[in-house]
Amino acid sequence: MVVKADAPRSVTILGSTGSVGTQTVDLVSRDPERFPVEALTANRNVTLLAQQARQLNVRMAVVADPAAYAELKRLLSGTGIEVAAGSEAVAAAAERPADWVMAAIVGAAGLEPTLAAIRRGAIVAFANKEVLVCAGALMMEEVKAHGATLLPVDSEHSAIYQVFDFERTESVSRLILTASGGPFRAKDRAFMAAATREQAVAHPTWDMGAKISVDSATMMNKGLELIEAHFLFGIPEERIDVLVHPQSVIHSLVEYVDGSVLAQLGTPDMRTPIAYALGWPARIATPAERLDLVKAATLTFEAPDPVRFPALRLARAALQSGGGAPTILSAANEVAVQAFLDRRIGFLDIERIVEETLTALPHRPLRDLAAVREADADARRDAAGRVAAIGATAVGSR
Ligand SMILES: NC(=O)c1ccc[n+]([C@@H]2O[C@H](COP(=O)([O-])OP(=O)(O)OC[C@H]3O[C@@H](n4cnc5c(N)ncnc54)[C@H](OP(=O)(O)O)[C@@H]3O)[C@@H](O)[C@H]2O)c1
Repeated sequence: MVVKADAPRSVTILGSTGSVGTQTVDLVSRDPERFPVEALTANRNVTLLAQQARQLNVRMAVVADPAAYAELKRLLSGTGIEVAAGSEAVAAAAERPADWVMAAIVGAAGLEPTLAAIRRGAIVAFANKEVLVCAGALMMEEVKAHGATLLPVDSEHSAIYQVFDFERTESVSRLILTASGGPFRAKDRAFMAAATREQAVAHPTWDMGAKISVDSATMMNKGLELIEAHFLFGIPEERIDVLVHPQSVIHSLVEYVDGSVLAQLGTPDMRTPIAYALGWPARIATPAERLDLVKAATLTFEAPDPVRFPALRLARAALQSGGGAPTILSAANEVAVQAFLDRRIGFLDIERIVEETLTALPHRPLRDLAAVREADADARRDAAGRVAAIGATAVGSR
C-alpha cells in the first residue's frame, strides 16, 4: 500500500477512554484537520467518552456495556453524533471507513474489533497485545490476506519496528526486549505475597491502565510481549531475550549477525510510540519530554530473575508448547489479574492460577477463530474456579 505521508488521515480509537486511548486523543486533538475522527469506543466510561466525542466532533460513539447506552445517548443528545452500544457495535465501529484504527482495548475483548479493522485493510496501530497473544498466527494470516498494516504501539515493539530490517530478516540474530522490572524489581517473594493492589499498580516509570500495571509487577507483561514480538517479527522464541533496564530509556534492541546492536531511545512517554504509528511513515511532533542523557547519567541493566518472576518462564513455555497454550495463558492471566484487582486473591496467586490452568487444560491446535474462542472460554472458566476456591478460604484479609 502506498501511503502519502502528510495527507489527512481519518481515525477511529477503540478504547479511547483508557491510558493509551486518552493519549491518542491528546495527539489527535492537536491537529484535527489532519486527523478527523470517525468513531470512539469505550467499555462503560460514558462521561469521558461523551466529552471526547464532543471535543473531537466525531461521527459515532460506542459503549460496549449496553447498560450505559441511555446515559451516553442523553450526554450526546442534540450533537448529531451517532450512538450505539454492545460488543457487536464496538466491532461495527471498527468496520467504519477510517484510514487508521488505534486498537487500545484491554484484553481479549479487543479481538473482534481489531479483526474487523484488519479485514478491511486499515492501518492498525496495535496496543492491545492480548489479541496477538491469544490468536497470533491467525491474526498475522488475516493481516496478510487483507493487506492491512499492523504498526506496534507497545514501546518495546515500536522500538524494534523502528530498527528492524524487514528487507533482510535473516540478518537479525536476536531481539532484546527491555523491561523496567516493575514496582517489585527489588522485592523478595515474602513482600510480593502480601502485596496490595495499590503497591502493584504503582509503576516506577510508566503511567498505565490497571491490568498492564499488574502485568508489569508480575512481569507477565514481558512474557506477553515476548509472544507478541514472536508473531509480529517472525523471530523464534529462543532468539528473543529480556533485559531488565530500570530507567526505561532504551525501549528495546535488535542485534544483527555482524554484532551491531540497534536501539531506539526516548523518555518513557507513550505519546512517542503512539505518534510514530499515527504519523507513519512520517514523524509528527509530540510534547514528550526530550531525552537528556547527561541528566539520565546512568543506564543500568540486569538479567530477569526467573525465581522471583516465574511468569516469564510460563510465557516462554506456552509459546514453545504452541497451539492454544498462549491463549490459555493470557485468558487465565486476565481472570487472575482482575481477581487480584478486586482483592479476591493475593498477588502470588496470579502466577499460580496461570500455571495451574496451563497445566490442567489441553493445548489444542488453533485452526480457526472458533477454536481461539473455545480455548479462551475454557481457560476463563478453569481460572475462575481456582479464584473461587481461593476466595472461599481467604476473604476479608485484603
Ligand atoms: N497503558 C500503556 O501505557 C500501555 C502500553 C503498552 C501497551 N498497552 C496495552 O494497550 C492496551 C490498553 O491498555 P491501557 O493501559 O490503555 O488500558 P486501560 O487504561 O484499562 O483502558 C482500556 C480501554 O478499553 C476499554 N475496554 C475495557 N474493557 C472493554 C470491553 N470488554 N469492551 C470494549 N472496551 C473495553 C476501556 O473502556 P472504559 O474506560 O469504559 O473501561 C478503555 O477505553 C492493553 O492491551 C495494554 O497491554 C498499554
